[in-house]
Amino acid sequence: MADVGRHPRIKLMTLSEVENVSGYIGNFKVKVRRKARYVNEAECTACGDCASVCPVLKTDEYQVGLATRKAVYMPFPQAIPAAYVVNMKDCLGNNPIACNKCVEKCEKKCINLDARDEIVELSVGAIIVATGMDVYDPTALDEYGYTRFANVVTSLEFERLINAGGPTDGNLVRPGDGKSPKRIGFIQCVGSRTQNRGNPYCSNICCMNTIKDSLLLKEHYPDTEIYVYYIDIRAFGKGFEDLYNRSKQMGVKYIRGLPGEITEDAKTGNLRLKVENTTTGRIEDYELDMVVLAVGLEPPKDGDKLRHQLALSKTSDGFLAERHAKLMPVDTATRGIFLAGCAEAPKDIKDSVTQASAAAARAEIILKADRIKLDAAKAVVDQSKCTMCEMCVKVCPYGAITASRAQKKPAEVIEAMCAGCSSCAAECAFDAITIRHFDDAEYLAQIDAALKENPQEKLLTFACNWCSYAASDLTGSSRLQYPSSVRIVRTMCSARVNEKFILQAFALGAPIVLVSGCHFADCHYNGANRATQRRIDRLWDKLERLGIRPERLQLEWMSAAEGQRFAKVMAELDEMRKKVTAEEIEETKKILAAQDGKKKKTAAPAAA
Ligand code: FES
Repeated sequence: MADVGRHPRIKLMTLSEVENVSGYIGNFKVKVRRKARYVNEAECTACGDCASVCPVLKTDEYQVGLATRKAVYMPFPQAIPAAYVVNMKDCLGNNPIACNKCVEKCEKKCINLDARDEIVELSVGAIIVATGMDVYDPTALDEYGYTRFANVVTSLEFERLINAGGPTDGNLVRPGDGKSPKRIGFIQCVGSRTQNRGNPYCSNICCMNTIKDSLLLKEHYPDTEIYVYYIDIRAFGKGFEDLYNRSKQMGVKYIRGLPGEITEDAKTGNLRLKVENTTTGRIEDYELDMVVLAVGLEPPKDGDKLRHQLALSKTSDGFLAERHAKLMPVDTATRGIFLAGCAEAPKDIKDSVTQASAAAARAEIILKADRIKLDAAKAVVDQSKCTMCEMCVKVCPYGAITASRAQKKPAEVIEAMCAGCSSCAAECAFDAITIRHFDDAEYLAQIDAALKENPQEKLLTFACNWCSYAASDLTGSSRLQYPSSVRIVRTMCSARVNEKFILQAFALGAPIVLVSGCHFADCHYNGANRATQRRIDRLWDKLERLGIRPERLQLEWMSAAEGQRFAKVMAELDEMRKKVTAEEIEETKKILAAQDGKKKKTAAPAAA
């Protein structure tokens, strides 16, 4: 942090918040609100005189509520810049007569309580998102008594209690009575790996953090009895297994099983817990002086605002989605924006540094380039056909299209922002948008070819390149069987599937049509598959109105790793296909031919 603060080519903007982001790769415009510090950071010598006279006492957020701070304070000892800050929500101010003591006391006159926020506009070529994570709040787990028993603390609170810069100067005392604890229990996976009591994912760092804490305790307080209650210990990093073994050798007791409840002896403040030791198969009782809840990690609570500003998507666990889990782990769906650290998933310091280095290198490639290569597959507008309905603007997940009926401005695509999801082309009812190299004629030709012979024996499947198409690949490479009736038409995103592709397939005699794509949170085009869902919902209604069974159009979400599921879905749909009778197929063809005839009739006078 100190190095970053000193670096001549890094501009560190603390106390700042992104207000708005526009533009595209190589050419982003970022509006930043620099909040007022009320202390001139260049002049402040961090002498602390201001804080010594401040009469306000507030909970110190850095010490997780275990200490207090003043309204003018240093956020934490190593803060960069090394300057005080006034929290205006806490400050009594200089109005009407209340305070102004810090202003009077500061010899260098660097406090100005009338300072205002400042808006700064930056032009940048690439953006790295490293917004970190939040810690799980165990308040809801009443059985552990976190809010009822003073000597039940979270791992973050424990961290402060054993830290030399913490509220007790590193002397471990229990919060209830200030006594030094002799028996400490750590409960693992609090808020992690659970379906209904927190989050379903593993938080990655908790096992090693507990092992590290146990080693620290054993070094400083060798007589302490330490018990770790766990589901399983995940020590998979380099050298981590050694640390785990060392901790066991130093006498830390690992008990496989999570306690059901903690109770407190009101007189002594000691804690009792019962646990089923699944190694011995016995119910065991423990009396402890202090319990540490190894709480998991969560995405930042206020992260959605920034996510929307940057047009990023998130995975089902709420963390930001990378462009490709294996091949582009630091890129995002929006080109020029990269991820580092826990913004993407829970990870430890080493993994965060590794990812940050990779993100910096990826960003550097853009900054060094004279020109940036873009994929050719972009939306192209035929403005003569555009009716300025603005539908494409609404469905574009990247904000890459502008159009205005009020200003009589037909649709226009900013190519550098367009990711090629094709949602706009599928949504445009006037054929005014197409995708270069993936145009409607090419798809219709593929559909025609797939259903040319014996269409009643074919199971036509639109598969998204990133997930369901990859799942079909995995099915093949895993030597799994799926019905030979399946005919796949690959689209970049399920959002490319136009209503007319599906109706064309039915008109040619397809018994069943499947549209498949990524699970909602996994769409590689910033949630474009939500437009797919809406479109298919509409089409199901339309089919029903026309007298065509909506079940003949199927929609499935699957991931690239679900090869087995792909095979299963295809087998089920193939059974469904066999039950669609020749009469039903013929009837559908007639309905669609009549519909087509009607359309042509209404189009002819309009053209005339
Ligand atoms: Fe697969 Fe959008 S990328 S559905």
